Amino acid sequence: MSLLQSSKRLVPWKLPASRRCLIIATLQVAFLLAYLALHLFFLSRSSLQRPPPLSSWEVVSARVSSICPGVHLSTENSPRFVQRNLSLPHNQLSNRLRRRNAMPPRNFDLFPNLPVDHQVIVLYVHNRPAYLKLAVEGLSKVVGISEALLIISHDGFFPEMNAVVEKIRFCQVKQIFAPFSPHIFSHAFPGVSPGDCIKKDDESCKGDPDQYGNYRAPHIISLKHHWWWMMNTVWDGLPETRNYHDHILFIEEDHFLFPNALLNMRTLSALKACACPACYMANLAPADVNFKGERMEILVADKIGNMGYAFNRTIWRKIHMYAEQFCNFDDYNWDITMWVVVYPEWGSATYSLRGPRQSAQHFGKCGLHQGKREGEPPCFDEGGQLPPVEEEDKVYNINTSWVVRHSSVKGYDRGFKGWGGWSDTRDRNLCLDFASMYHMGETI
Ligand SMILES: *[C@@H]1O[C@H](CO)[C@@H](O)[C@H](O)[C@H]1NC(C)=O
Ligand SMILES: *[C@@H]1O[C@H](CO)[C@@H](O)[C@H](O)[C@H]1NC(C)=O
Ligand SMILES: *[C@@H]1O[C@H](CO)[C@@H](O)[C@H](O)[C@H]1NC(C)=O
Repeated sequence: MSLLQSSKRLVPWKLPASRRCLIIATLQVAFLLAYLALHLFFLSRSSLQRPPPLSSWEVVSARVSSICPGVHLSTENSPRFVQRNLSLPHNQLSNRLRRRNAMPPRNFDLFPNLPVDHQVIVLYVHNRPAYLKLAVEGLSKVVGISEALLIISHDGFFPEMNAVVEKIRFCQVKQIFAPFSPHIFSHAFPGVSPGDCIKKDDESCKGDPDQYGNYRAPHIISLKHHWWWMMNTVWDGLPETRNYHDHILFIEEDHFLFPNALLNMRTLSALKACACPACYMANLAPADVNFKGERMEILVADKIGNMGYAFNRTIWRKIHMYAEQFCNFDDYNWDITMWVVVYPEWGSATYSLRGPRQSAQHFGKCGLHQGKREGEPPCFDEGGQLPPVEEEDKVYNINTSWVVRHSSVKGYDRGFKGWGGWSDTRDRNLCLDFASMYHMGETI
């Protein structure tokens, strides 16, 4: 009876107004909490969305043995890195970008399932939106692009560049921003910090002169920093590619891919294991960017180029092993640094396998740094026109039984002393930090 009475007392409309308010408020808070908990649950689930399936070593081996029967792939070496006291720079924007880098790929809803042997393309960009638009237009017509993962790595944060990326709907897109780029730090290292030496012969200022007496110029050296950060991040930092073994294809914002790029890349990268043992990479274009190819029935072992190049994890390990050489060489160009102090370490002849007809082409006339002399106005170019695409550029056009002709490797080589610009101890240390950070628990 007393129970009934007490339960009667709980009937809300018989309660005094103040108690009623209290109960309603409690219910509201409880409802809100439940809603928040559910929301957080789904949010964490969506941000922990499965990264795409990875091309395992077995999958790569199977493809190589279908093209190169009898060839056994060497497994990768374990990473070699130097334990360091990291001194990675931070500010509000860089912290925000790091959180953004952890977001799942765009267009996951449109392309939820990538095949296990999907291809990965890395497009690294700075701030040339007109060029990026054209590069993206080319990518949209590449055969097989909907089954690829496109990673876009930004040097700096530029809304106009984002706008181009946000419009992409033809494949999964993982967007990453170099959080330690000089473009992110306006008044501190890696940007220009107060007290930095600027001109030759400046005194009582911060900085180490290069072999020509010049001090660091952040906007010029940012490309080498970005390239190295991006390589370390893609191979050793990103959950989407950290265990990917196959070839990753690298292009820049002024590189146009022909529709047959991925078809050819797939064959070249597997074929090099038997057709060209001295080929460490595969290339979609000749190393000489002004040459369109022999257009004969041959394959070419060419100098390793800096456009449309692809290599696998074994080769990444071989690059990473020479981090000290890469970071301590006094040249602000990543490609010249590789030609002079990294590739020669691998053997007397290091080649890249390519077809007789290019599947990638450089367009646009403004280099990022080349040709920008002091006092000259910055190069301006709306991007011009896309290269003409012929019928033959739309189909697979490699024949695996063609002979491999070795071209003579010319240009920068061991012994060149470098163009300078890369002697500041802070730059060298940041570069070495990039090589170690993901092996010391740092996350993307
Ligand atoms: C990667 O490529 C190199 C050079 O062609 C080759 O020696 C190595 O076996 C390949 N590794 C894998 C895992 O495919
Ligand atoms: C890192 O810093 C600690 C404390 O400052 C120092 O004892 C140690 O020697 C440093 N290690 C390296 C590899 O520089
Ligand atoms: C590839 O080349 C070989 C030898 O030149 C030729 O017999 C074969 O028909 C070619 N294959 C294709 C698909 O063109």
